Amino acid sequence: MNRPFCELHLHIEGTLEPATIFQLARQQRLTLPYADEDDLARRYRFTDLQSFLDLYYDNMRVLRSEDDFFALAWAYFLRAGIAGIAHVELFVDPQAHSVRGVAETTVLRGLRRAMDRAREELAISSSIIACVLRDQPVDSAHAMLEAVLSADVAVTGLGLDSAEAGHPPSRFAAVFADARAAGLHVVAHAGEEGPADYVWEALDVLGAERIDHGIHALDDSALVQRLVADRIPLTVCPLSNVRLRVVEDVAELPIRRMLDDGLCVTINSDDPAYFGGYLDDNLRSIQDAFGLTDGDLDKLCENSIAASFLPDSEKARLR
Ligand code: HPA
Ligand code: ZN
Repeated sequence: MNRPFCELHLHIEGTLEPATIFQLARQQRLTLPYADEDDLARRYRFTDLQSFLDLYYDNMRVLRSEDDFFALAWAYFLRAGIAGIAHVELFVDPQAHSVRGVAETTVLRGLRRAMDRAREELAISSSIIACVLRDQPVDSAHAMLEAVLSADVAVTGLGLDSAEAGHPPSRFAAVFADARAAGLHVVAHAGEEGPADYVWEALDVLGAERIDHGIHALDDSALVQRLVADRIPLTVCPLSNVRLRVVEDVAELPIRRMLDDGLCVTINSDDPAYFGGYLDDNLRSIQDAFGLTDGDLDKLCENSIAASFLPDSEKARLR
């Protein structure tokens, strides 16, 4: 990838590779419920979002200390460097760690150390978006936001992730209002497994500035018009959509239609350790499926820069 892509939909816990899980477990003398790396990797066959989330949360048991979060993020940055990524806005799920007794500051400090090193040694800039787990109580989301805002590591935004069906964005209206009042950017997963209505709610109730996934937004032409008119980016994750059975094949994704309709579509990897590829692999998968031209790739790169929360001076530097 010889273009300065920004990755805007990347769950840092979703970069936990089987080899790292076993390495961290050995260091901590933890016994895993898998015989070996191959046994674990064989379980990476998912039927839907929930079947993935069950394994994703379970594997987080190996992330306990600041050093563990550093190791996780540093391994990702090394791989991002190979993919040629210039900037990352990474998601983290603090509630999935605080529930195991790991403080928000432990998580954020470990990530920050890796981010500082990535900027210095790999010339990759990055920021953090803390995500609300939408299948957990609203009180827990409020507590997470408070803890994150009072931590000594800054975050750029608040996101919304985890099991979508039956968990509409509007449940978290007050939490997102607080986040906006505190000066955070706001994004939300919507229209991955859930309906176009959840995308409307993410925009109108939460004030989302980007929609993560948003595949089902294309079921509603008025919503597409709104996304185009307001320049709301979609962070699409092709290999994720195949592995979680949103579509059977990347060729079924409406990426050509999104480009033709003037949507600000961006390509991302979501949980690359689980879904079979990093950003470069995701781009290759759609390049083959849609016969993307150099012009299309330039557009996808420019969209990723425009959709980022970088200041204009940094955007100009990447262009
Ligand atoms: N969707 C919702 N929640 C998530 C995902 C996803 O693709 N990955 C990690 N948490
Ligand atoms: Zn995601």
